Amino acid sequence: MTTTDSGRDQAGKGPATNGGSTRGAPSVDGGPEADAGDGPPPGERTTTLTRPNGAVGPTVADPAGASPHAEERLSGGPVMLGQIRRMVTLTLDGTEVRVPEGSTILDALHGEGSPEQADTPTLCWAPNMDPINACRVCVVEVEGSRVLVPSCARKVEDGMEVRTDTERVRHSRKMVLELLASSADMSEASADVQRWIGDYDVDVERYGPPAPPAEAGERDRRHAGHHHAPDGSVAQNVHQPVKVDNDLYVRDYSRCIMCYKCVNACGEDAQFTFAIAAAGRGFDARIATEFDVELPDSACVYCGNCIGVCPTGALKSVREYELREADEWDGENETVTTTICSFCGVGCNLELHVQNNEIVNVTSPSDHSVTHGHLCIKGRFGFQHVQNLPKG
Ligand code: SF4
Ligand code: SF4
Ligand code: FES
Repeated sequence: MTTTDSGRDQAGKGPATNGGSTRGAPSVDGGPEADAGDGPPPGERTTTLTRPNGAVGPTVADPAGASPHAEERLSGGPVMLGQIRRMVTLTLDGTEVRVPEGSTILDALHGEGSPEQADTPTLCWAPNMDPINACRVCVVEVEGSRVLVPSCARKVEDGMEVRTDTERVRHSRKMVLELLASSADMSEASADVQRWIGDYDVDVERYGPPAPPAEAGERDRRHAGHHHAPDGSVAQNVHQPVKVDNDLYVRDYSRCIMCYKCVNACGEDAQFTFAIAAAGRGFDARIATEFDVELPDSACVYCGNCIGVCPTGALKSVREYELREADEWDGENETVTTTICSFCGVGCNLELHVQNNEIVNVTSPSDHSVTHGHLCIKGRFGFQHVQNLPKG
């Protein structure tokens, strides 16, 4: 473990972190960020040749590569090569494509599919997370498979025949979206989600008018398995008051679709803090801190990585919440500027979301090799001082 500062520790996906995630492991893609994981500390890398020639495989950083002496660079130290992967042939709606072994069907649809195939709806999937496989909105048909398969999690196989636009697929996706949109408020989900709701002709009122919202804390107190069967006159839902218990972010679980992204981002996918988890069972399942304590009393370190992955706006910064409540949120005219975090030397890329000359949110690109889209409290929330700098 050669982590150099707390910023990268908190981000959890820094190149020197060996926290157990498969994405940080060298075998994923052989990219430079994966390579650095087993190398010597950065301070040694440019000055000391500590490794015997040929002692490690080709996906490990090569300290000899930094040597100014050609002889050392070329004399048997392993060279930087991406991992070689066999190509797999499958068909997408009858069209043959080839993708690297280990890809998911969704990878194939994104990389080799038509624009329509690449537009496969997703909710619990994110490019910077391991597949969660919870929402099932991305299902496709696979020849020989009895059930529809989640494209975000199912790996491709040679000879696989995938169909993405059958009546069965469309019906299933519509059902998933109807069940979710009738039980949770998805009005702040991304533009893509809004479009999918329209494309799949989702009827949010299909199960009747919404049941009245629960009182504050009522859903949290429900005992798993101890509930009365609803009479069916209204659509059950998760509507409840928003939880505002700290200065940095709010939890608006009326919008929660139980995709588990926040849980995994707080856990093994990024942060390794495990401050939140799923509690309850069935329709009473919910995201909770340990013993339902308020966030300041929980293990939360306010990295905000859960906010960064939430697909519905259930988790959002206090500033965003305030602006939306005041009807002053101006997402359409928001600009995004990429810069480098100035709090420490890790070099996390920050995307500053600015509305009306005010920073309203900070995110990081999911494909950035340092952050993989995740930040620490300083990068995510430490921007208020910028607004207070003297002008001119
Ligand atoms: S902000 Fe708190 S709950 Fe969210 S991922 Fe970070 S530690 Fe976990
Ligand atoms: S709070 Fe957001 S990220 Fe967490 S389970 Fe609910 S919808 Fe998913
Ligand atoms: S996006 Fe594939 S199961 Fe949720």
